[in-house]
Amino acid sequence: MIPKGSLGWPVIGETLAFIACGYSSRPVSFMDKRKSLYGKVFKTNIIGTPIIISTDAEVNKVVLQNHGNTFVPAYPKSITELLGENSILSINGPHQKRLHTIIGAFFRSPHLKERITRDIEASVGLTLDSWVQLPVVHVQDEIKKMTFEVLVKLLMSISRGEDLDILKLEFEEFIKGLICIPIDFPGTRLYKSLKAKERLIKIVKKVVKERQVATTERKNSPANDAVDVLLRDVSDGASSDKQSQPLDFVSGKIVEMMIPGEETMPTAMTLAVKFLSDNPVALAKLVVLIFNFLLPFSKHKQVINETLRIANIINGVWRKALKDVEIKGYLIPKGWCVLASFISVHMDEDIYENPYQFDPWRWDRINGSANSNVCFTPFGGGQRLCPGLELSKLEIAIFLHQLVTRYSVMSHPMFKYSDVYNCISRGLVDDKKNYVLTKTWTAEEDKIVSFPTVKMKRRLPIRVAPVERTSHIPVEDH
Ligand code: HEM
Repeated sequence: MIPKGSLGWPVIGETLAFIACGYSSRPVSFMDKRKSLYGKVFKTNIIGTPIIISTDAEVNKVVLQNHGNTFVPAYPKSITELLGENSILSINGPHQKRLHTIIGAFFRSPHLKERITRDIEASVGLTLDSWVQLPVVHVQDEIKKMTFEVLVKLLMSISRGEDLDILKLEFEEFIKGLICIPIDFPGTRLYKSLKAKERLIKIVKKVVKERQVATTERKNSPANDAVDVLLRDVSDGASSDKQSQPLDFVSGKIVEMMIPGEETMPTAMTLAVKFLSDNPVALAKLVVLIFNFLLPFSKHKQVINETLRIANIINGVWRKALKDVEIKGYLIPKGWCVLASFISVHMDEDIYENPYQFDPWRWDRINGSANSNVCFTPFGGGQRLCPGLELSKLEIAIFLHQLVTRYSVMSHPMFKYSDVYNCISRGLVDDKKNYVLTKTWTAEEDKIVSFPTVKMKRRLPIRVAPVERTSHIPVEDH
């Protein structure tokens, strides 16, 4: 049975309602309304495309797993134009699988993790230190600079300096066109972005060319970055088209891999700062956990999961069906698009109690439960599960760790250091060690905007200042 639903007006379908909800503080309301009318899987028409939207975790899982290669990625035209037809994000089949496997294996390798941990710690440290000198810190911009630096190091080992600055400028010009009217004509947004992509590829190609000989010579030592990984794969001769144009191939893939990491990472970190600023008790508990247990990365997991659940940086994935397919009794006809809506599952009150409440400690109850993989998919799943998943979590954890060990927060009028004591006295934490708070941050009022991508409206301004009151809090005396 084709799912129930309305295709709306001719041509525009239900696009206006979809976009209006995207701009509101409740982007999921478009789905919620239709879910209550037609059920968890329904049809609609957005941007001239008939589409089936799934708000059902199990249906989403089947779409993501994509057994039998029934689904291919479906992006708006401006994105496909800018990515090119062979991009890792749009191709399907053996080439995508191979790239996904080699890049994923590299990102997970202990050698890389050890090295990148040091790089991330250094970048985060420099960034946080620099905040003290700024009258107002726009967290979103500052974090973006920092994560771009780490990303470029990971992909092609370029460090701070002129090359990095130029690369950043060109990349920003390039991605401005990802969501735009798809007309390629001098002066249009798409045209400017395609030109920026050409310049970007040229810079990357220069780096790859310089590395070609060295990489082949060091063939038996572990790869240092994605350029190493791809150059070695090319010289292994996995595919003849790669071998005929290795420079173009490797440079193109590096630029494509910058896209999924560039905005998602800083958004996740910025929203973690926002949620912690707005929830002083959660922050206080994190502070106490970090100071008392000093296990750098295990205590941030709940805060990271909860940030990703509420933030919905990638709110779902779009696929197109190559043949008729039936999932849980719903027919998805050949040629139709499917939107597997992650946000609808993450904000479903049947799955998450009080879904709009930032409650990191809910993950103590959820983790390990049978449904936790199916109902929590910020990094997608199945065949295209984000290969940057572990690295992203590592980077966010290092950032949170350094943030709360260097700064405390007083953004909320109700927040006092006694909140930390309260957490302890209410039995939320049980260790009894001292901790020191030397600086504070105060977040100004700001709003999350969800369309076309998730961002802070005012780039999250905060003020950083030294703590004036007693900075040493002896927990034992309390
Ligand atoms: C919080 C940060 C991140 C989030 C929420 C995120 C989310 C996602 C999601 C949902 C997908 C699946 C897209 C689909 O199924 O069509 C994906 C794919 C991908 N991500 Fe991430 N990502 C993040 C960070 C990164 C980073 C740092 C990198 C590293 C460079 C990265 C590289 C990729 C790549 C290459 C793919 C495509 C995989 C494929 O199609 O085979 N991501 N990401």
